[in-house]
Amino acid sequence: MSRRFNEDFLNELRARCDLETVVSKYAELKKRGNSILALCPFHSEKTPSFNINSSKQLFYCFGCGVGGDVITFIMKIENLSYAEAVAFLAEQVGMDLPPEDDYESKTSSLRKRILEMNRLAARFYHAKLLSDEGTQAFEYLKNRALKDRIIVRFGLGYSPDSWDSLTNYLKSEGYNNEELKASGLVSVSRKGVGSEKIFDRFRNRVMFPIIDQRGNVIGFGGRTMGDDPAKYLNTSETLVFKKGRNLYALNFAKASRREGLILCEGYMDVISLHQAGFDNAVAGLGTAFTSEQARLIRSVSDNVYLCYDSDEAGQKATRRTLDILSSVDVKVKVIVVSGGKDPDEFIKAYGADSFERLLTRARARLDYRIDTIKRKYQIEIPEEKTQCLKEITSLLASVKNRVEREIYIDRVAGDFNIKKENLTAEVDNQVKKASRYKQAKENRFAMEKLNKSLLPGEKSNQMKMMKAEDDIISVLLNFPEYANDIESFITPDDFVTDFKRKAYILLTEAIKRNPTVEPLLSISQDITEEEMGKLSSKVRESKSFTVNKTNVKELCENLKKEKSKLLLKEVKTFDDDTFKATLNKLKDKEK
Ligand code: UTP
Ligand code: MN
Repeated sequence: MSRRFNEDFLNELRARCDLETVVSKYAELKKRGNSILALCPFHSEKTPSFNINSSKQLFYCFGCGVGGDVITFIMKIENLSYAEAVAFLAEQVGMDLPPEDDYESKTSSLRKRILEMNRLAARFYHAKLLSDEGTQAFEYLKNRALKDRIIVRFGLGYSPDSWDSLTNYLKSEGYNNEELKASGLVSVSRKGVGSEKIFDRFRNRVMFPIIDQRGNVIGFGGRTMGDDPAKYLNTSETLVFKKGRNLYALNFAKASRREGLILCEGYMDVISLHQAGFDNAVAGLGTAFTSEQARLIRSVSDNVYLCYDSDEAGQKATRRTLDILSSVDVKVKVIVVSGGKDPDEFIKAYGADSFERLLTRARARLDYRIDTIKRKYQIEIPEEKTQCLKEITSLLASVKNRVEREIYIDRVAGDFNIKKENLTAEVDNQVKKASRYKQAKENRFAMEKLNKSLLPGEKSNQMKMMKAEDDIISVLLNFPEYANDIESFITPDDFVTDFKRKAYILLTEAIKRNPTVEPLLSISQDITEEEMGKLSSKVRESKSFTVNKTNVKELCENLKKEKSKLLLKEVKTFDDDTFKATLNKLKDKEK
């Protein structure tokens, strides 16, 4: 991160990227009186708690606590850094980014250098595959039934059986050791103090470049052609490569004319599917599927065919991935490939038409789950049938939508030849039990949280202190015209928690610098996404409360009073170490 932008530029950008318009591309907006609401795109919900404050150009979700301005919104929904989000928005409204000057951070230029190195490496590996050196690798791919055009389309390559061929090539192109290390294309060996050697990370492997949605080569997977214990070696995390944030072949799948996406496990599955005409196939990148990947999918399609390996590990992962996709409201159907371990083998054995049939027969999430449960039992035996129904009952109880629940109750009752009323009663029972359990758990959690953050006997004072700090921050955010008054009464040292003190300093400076701009917008470059969310929660629709000079003064005096009370009490009650520990706890709570 951390290229800083000129504030006038940012204000102009925000003026052109109206928050409401931008959000409406990702979520359906509902007007209620003066406020604009939406179902939050960052968590799953049935009633809208995502609020847009148009006059202030800020949003806040009361459900999950995410909040901020249009830049924060794009950072979160498109998975971008601050600078990338700014560039993304600027491009949409046709604004040029200001020329990069001394402000340009080392990180963002290093990120660029890594992308260049990756592109050069991809070309290097590809050329090697087509050269004499790559004969064996090329044969390997041919043996796996890949056609020339698909090898070229996916930019597949070969990393030579050498410790330094890529390293030397990149050095000759002007990249230094530090840059090479940052790219993840080399490994480091340390021999003795101070002496380190770098060498090619990928050796004698078939190379799969990983390309992001914008066409950047962000990393590689390399498959051994022998029996190396590491079947696939992937680029480790770098500035440009975060596994849980990307999907293999999404760049192609995004442009596919086929309906939905096919999500599978491996590089080769994806490539085989594309070759067979299913160019909407993507894969995770060797890690457990993440909710970030789920959101990435949703930004492209709201419909997924899950097609993991048919072995036990694959089916276990299927359940997990199903839940994650459903939790962000992506519709999922499951394909179980039979007669082969994975889609690649299936296509090879039975051809594209057979796979097309699997697609049309894909099972909805609940059907798949019910199938899986049924398969575990021998239903002809009464005890097993009972046990099986018990499991299905708790599955049905977890279905939130009542109509859907009803439909499945009907179906299962018919299937198992039992009375619908009995099954309904059992399911209802479970639903009630679950909700009592959930309530109890929430209560316990809230109590624990409170107890952890506060010491016995000190609770009320610390709460009051935090409330006093909050009050001042709220005034600054909502009534910046009182900043001068506030500064005449208190100093940053009157704040106990680091975060509030930092917010106080940033806000008062921003208001002085730029009194006409919404204060929270002015400091958005200096705080984290999470801090942005916390502060957004304190920005009110302007008329919901008022202040005047007198009560601003009172609030400031109150802050000083609470602080001295807290200190006095603490000093009297505890020794120094305990006192410090208390303060730290308090700070942690605020972080
Ligand atoms: P699989 O073991 O199912 O391999 O791993 P595959 O895709 O069928 O590979 P082939 O057909 O034998 O070539 C699925 C995915 O998990 C990741 C890779 O992304 C792979 O495509 N993986 C697997 C690794 O990252 N490292 C490994 O050692 C193995
Ligand atoms: Mn395979």
